[in-house]
Amino acid sequence: MKNQIISIIWNIFNKIPNLKERLFRFYAWKIFEKVPKLKDLIYKIYDRFWFLELLIDNDQFNPLDLQTNNYELDLGKINFVVNNYQANDMSKLPNEWDLVPNITRIEDTNEFQLIKKHFTDNVDWKEINEYKYFRNILSNNQKILNCSNEQEFITYLKSLDDSFQKLMRDESTSVHYGFKVGVGRFGEFMLLDDIFLISLFIIISIKKIAIEVVLRHPLWIKFSSEFLRFQSVHGELYQPLIHPDLRFESSYTDQRFLIILENLAITNGALLDIGANLAYFCHKFEDLGFDCYAVEIRPSNVHYMKKLRDIEGKKFKIINKSIFDLNLKLDFDIVLALNIFHHFLREKELYQNLIEFLGSLKLKTMYFQPHDPSEKIMRNAYVNYDNEQFVRFIIKYSCLNKFELINKQSDGRNRPIYKIFK
Ligand SMILES: C[S@@+](CC[C@H](N)C(=O)[O-])C[C@H]1O[C@@H](n2cnc3c(N)ncnc32)[C@H](O)[C@@H]1O
Repeated sequence: MKNQIISIIWNIFNKIPNLKERLFRFYAWKIFEKVPKLKDLIYKIYDRFWFLELLIDNDQFNPLDLQTNNYELDLGKINFVVNNYQANDMSKLPNEWDLVPNITRIEDTNEFQLIKKHFTDNVDWKEINEYKYFRNILSNNQKILNCSNEQEFITYLKSLDDSFQKLMRDESTSVHYGFKVGVGRFGEFMLLDDIFLISLFIIISIKKIAIEVVLRHPLWIKFSSEFLRFQSVHGELYQPLIHPDLRFESSYTDQRFLIILENLAITNGALLDIGANLAYFCHKFEDLGFDCYAVEIRPSNVHYMKKLRDIEGKKFKIINKSIFDLNLKLDFDIVLALNIFHHFLREKELYQNLIEFLGSLKLKTMYFQPHDPSEKIMRNAYVNYDNEQFVRFIIKYSCLNKFELINKQSDGRNRPIYKIFK
């Protein structure tokens, strides 16, 4: 019942042309400017009850329709094999197929050891200890892949010798063999396919493989659906998603990261991401070797930021506060201020907070992405700087004194990126 009421209100809201936009402008400028306390109150309520928006029924979005099953994946993302994958019948898998003891680390398997000893230590197949293990399986009338006897198994192993020769000749980094995989409850990729062949790929350091997702754990589907719902209520995602199985549409790409990367003088140090949103940049910079701090004011974003961080096994710190309430004593090597500072030009009090914040910030380099001053949302702002005025404003109030425009546009938006430094 509660869901239906919310859904009806939401549908009416969506049916009246421009209503959302008008209300947004009204709410942002007219009321909030006059009664700033009301804005604080509304945000307080939203931050406390944001999860209610997930009840909004939006059946346009079904994650299973949007999820692709065939795509390329970094081989390093597949670390486990599901033990009884040979059954080839998913219905025979236990419910907890994605947890120990139903999975084994690929490198701990007899299959991997056999392949490693043959291809890296050059030992003949039959001379390898693990070979006896497979011979026993076959003599107990059990199958290995499609092999029912030792002769067939040896023929199969010899076909791996041929594959090895071919792979060594082929210099491409991507191999188009559709390995069947499952996605576990925490988004982990698990092999449900030929472990001998994948072991060979690991040993010869293939970077990317083609996969076919044939199984997703219900808890992973639940998380994906919930995340998609959250995203659809908010409009478009602001950043690309890191997890390869969350392939929901976003017009934002890796372009901004690549531009910053090209203009980066260091590859480690402390990095502060202001208004981190889902912390895409912290994932990327942690991979490079940075110690990252993601500051984000909205608990709703932080909720998903944490989940996405844990799924990827990342370590960056998440601070759920306004940047103005930060009390970090750190001296940052890099500060990312992407699409955030213009929010503070809208109101006098925020503008003053920004000046104070810039004065207290200890840093060496800032990557700054300003807004496009002609954008509607800035129409009634307290101050509306053009790009270069904005950069000079930052220089005036921070410890930085030089700047460089490193690109003019990104992801099709008129929002340049500046490097500001000492
Ligand atoms: C327009 S998005 C930009 C996200 C990201 N920096 C990027 O460019 O991809 C602004 C983000 O800053 C967050 N934010 C707004 N005011 C903030 C504040 N005072 N302190 C920390 N985060 C804030 C918003 O919740 C939102 O996630």
